Amino acid sequence: MAKKRDLKQKISWELAPAPESTGHINLKDRYDLFINGKWVAPKKKKYFSTINPSNEKKIAEIAYADKSDVDLAVDAARKAYDGVWSKITPSERAKYIYRIARIMQERSRELAVIESLDGGKPIREARDIDIPLASNHFFYNAGWADKLEYAFPAKTAMPLGVAGQIIPWNFPLLMAAWKIAPALAAGNTVVLKPAETTSLTALKLAEIIQEAGLPPGVVNIVTGFGDTGAAIVNHPDINKVAFTGSTGVGKIIQNAISGTAKKATLELGGKSANIIFADAPIDQAIEGIVNGIFFNQGHVCCAGSRLFVQESVSDLVIKKLKERIDTLIVGDPLDKNTDIGAINSKEQLEIIKKYIKIGKEEGAEMYQTSCKIPNKGYFCAPTIFTDVAQSSRIVQEEIFGPVLTIQTFRTIDEVIQKANNTPYGLAAGVWTDKGSRIFNLTTKLRAGVVWANTYNKFDPSSPFGGYKESGFGREGGLHGLSAYVKLV
Ligand code: NAI
Ligand code: MG
Repeated sequence: MAKKRDLKQKISWELAPAPESTGHINLKDRYDLFINGKWVAPKKKKYFSTINPSNEKKIAEIAYADKSDVDLAVDAARKAYDGVWSKITPSERAKYIYRIARIMQERSRELAVIESLDGGKPIREARDIDIPLASNHFFYNAGWADKLEYAFPAKTAMPLGVAGQIIPWNFPLLMAAWKIAPALAAGNTVVLKPAETTSLTALKLAEIIQEAGLPPGVVNIVTGFGDTGAAIVNHPDINKVAFTGSTGVGKIIQNAISGTAKKATLELGGKSANIIFADAPIDQAIEGIVNGIFFNQGHVCCAGSRLFVQESVSDLVIKKLKERIDTLIVGDPLDKNTDIGAINSKEQLEIIKKYIKIGKEEGAEMYQTSCKIPNKGYFCAPTIFTDVAQSSRIVQEEIFGPVLTIQTFRTIDEVIQKANNTPYGLAAGVWTDKGSRIFNLTTKLRAGVVWANTYNKFDPSSPFGGYKESGFGREGGLHGLSAYVKLV
């Protein structure tokens, strides 16, 4: 106990606040819709506020698009597809996409601050992960634009047409990049809707797209809520729907497009297993567990939210994990020392609180750090539950917050069986010194991605996506590109 207190004291003595400045960012008070290369007011003149979840202050007003605005955007995308984008040479397309990537790099500091302000994620993450990866997706796909015959040898890759893309709030700019970059590289045009709590970086991307001189209508960005998304999905002139978000909405979308010729990729929820064997490098594994679930407040579809520890090391791992999470700093997302920022919205905080209550009622043992939490804004301390049953709701259902359940296991067969026993199958982590065990598990875990001795690693060239209720189709890499072409 004494040791734990010492560690905390040391941290609070060593780290003076290190806030990133906001003086360099450029935000308007009000954002219209980006349609056909221009800013267009929504027909019904409705706007909603986007707030900073770390202090509940309004940042800007965002246009609320309805069906008639979506019609305008799809019409612009269709005309741009027929008239320009499917006609120009692939190397011309590549030039524009490279230009977008480079301007994103130039404006990365501003984009990182806005991402952190609007969504609540720590500036460190926005700066080191979201923004560089987002521009890398444009670079990567720009590289393919004029090499499609090598990407798909002996076939001709034809674009699909107009892609309707709907994205969530956990990685706003990165999700926009995952969707827009391959669509453009393959010759499609786009209507994209960001999530209602985090529209700002997609709107900044619209400015970048303007600056890059992309022909009008190739990318259209319409903001709004679920009904705006539904208007995109149900529009008869959309050829492809790409969605990332909740499994519930994924099912609605799948029903809505059944019986149509629309193609779809759905990237949905997860309840991913992080598995620690007794021979694992324990200190590294502790960092991997922390990164797996507390990274981005647990707002990660592939979060390692279920920890499985081999019984012989479980006491040690749990002790070390508690010591480690005691040092995590929860607070101002713009402070460079912050490990865990704000929960994205009040609604999401309520969902997380509901699950913490369920965990306690189910009889699990809870450990929550007693870190300082700001009075204003939406915050949640890192929380772990031990003594959980495989059937318990906190083990089976997606929480999407900094909440980890811990179970123990004895044999490989047991842990494979438990790890696969959820409706989801997005990702998994395996920590062991033994290579053959890793390969054994990667073939048996029903998960789209299996990380070995690491967690939450991403690269534009590797595909990402799920099994079962985590969705279908892949994003990233050649697989991601192939979701935007028909091969003839
Ligand atoms: P959501 O699935 O409602 O929102 C995702 C996007 O879909 C947003 O842009 C939203 O406006 C749009 N949308 C909502 N209803 C729609 C409809 N009927 N048709 C078309 N588009 C629609 O997710 P929400 O409510 O923000 O979060 C709820 C839960 O979903 C979270 O607690 C988490 O468990 C999960 N989630 C999973 C994500 C992932 O990356 N897999 C991302 C965000 C949430
Ligand atoms: Mg919602």
